[in-house]
Amino acid sequence: MIDALVIVDDNSSPRGVAAALPYICSALVIPISAFSPELAQDARMLVFDLNLGVRDNVLFLRSVFSGLPDKPKIVFTSRSDRHEVVQACAVGGATILGRADSKNMLNLTVRQVFRNLGEDFTEGGSESTATAARQAANLYTDITQAVLNEEPLPRTAAANSAVSIVDAVRGDGIDSWLGLVQRHHSHTYCHSMMVSGYAAAFGDALDLDDETVRILTLGGLLHDIGKVRIPLAILDKPGKLDDAEMALIRKHPEHGLEILSAQKGIDARIIEITHNHHEMLDGSGYPRGLRDDEISPLVRMLTICDIFAALTEERPYKEHYSRRVAYSILLDMGGKLDKALLKLFRPVAFQSEFGELKRSNPRSRATSNAEQVARLISTS
Ligand SMILES: [Fe+2]
Ligand SMILES: [Fe+2]
Repeated sequence: MIDALVIVDDNSSPRGVAAALPYICSALVIPISAFSPELAQDARMLVFDLNLGVRDNVLFLRSVFSGLPDKPKIVFTSRSDRHEVVQACAVGGATILGRADSKNMLNLTVRQVFRNLGEDFTEGGSESTATAARQAANLYTDITQAVLNEEPLPRTAAANSAVSIVDAVRGDGIDSWLGLVQRHHSHTYCHSMMVSGYAAAFGDALDLDDETVRILTLGGLLHDIGKVRIPLAILDKPGKLDDAEMALIRKHPEHGLEILSAQKGIDARIIEITHNHHEMLDGSGYPRGLRDDEISPLVRMLTICDIFAALTEERPYKEHYSRRVAYSILLDMGGKLDKALLKLFRPVAFQSEFGELKRSNPRSRATSNAEQVARLISTS
């Protein structure tokens, strides 16, 4: 399911702030002539960026609104065009946004829509784990918003969130954390929260001191922050990525470096994790092709958590692997990963193997698909 189905006039594209939607949530933009109720069913919300001075468009909105009452709807108008605003209000039942409104406003609106949809972490796990998941998800939204608006990152909230994640993983175990965060509608949120949970558990398994475990956990939450600058249509593309799309995704560690370096007071180890988490010990990684001692132990740990999370994440549009297969894929990566650390990661990876077998998820693959694995490893 996609987050937003964006309906625009034929031969048009989203205008003004509406064009920022694909950076905030997964969005499919379609011309009005391609609209169908089936497409609408597959979206969490409907977004209309139509010329409401056209009578047919207003009639179209009325018919959609009466036929599909349960979907949240956002209608973009030109606030200076009174006629458009009046038409949008007259249709009723929608949130109205101006095309000249700020990205901040758009972000807040989208966030509110998802909150109202009740996509929350209320079932399963203890209340403290649910609170930690909610806190981490809200933090991720605030961070995304801050990056898009070029504002300071909420550093205190980030530090607090890392503490809550560590406490949740220590208290209820990694499995409970993974179960909850996998419910988040956004792939990027879910991935980052999974990686931070694994990072917390891995840090504890190695008996690192509390401060280092928190840094590693926060590194997990922030490592892909550079992806904020890449359209979700590319990040979440179900089919094969072309060379240009792949090149764009592979820019995310450098975007991350740029974003975090521009901030005051971000721990150097978090910046290093963000910049280097796709580097491989044999020099085959990116962006700089670092090798061996140029890659710090914390980065090596995070890279293991990152790839393991990417391989095991349950997403409807991609294959995912059982923990056993995922761990064997990591072993097969040979000199790319730190073998000693990988061995120490084993108990973290299999901590909840029993739970996984008990659930016997029928969608996780027991064998790997080389092309899919290569994509997951190089874009995670
Ligand atoms: Fe990444
Ligand atoms: Fe990642």
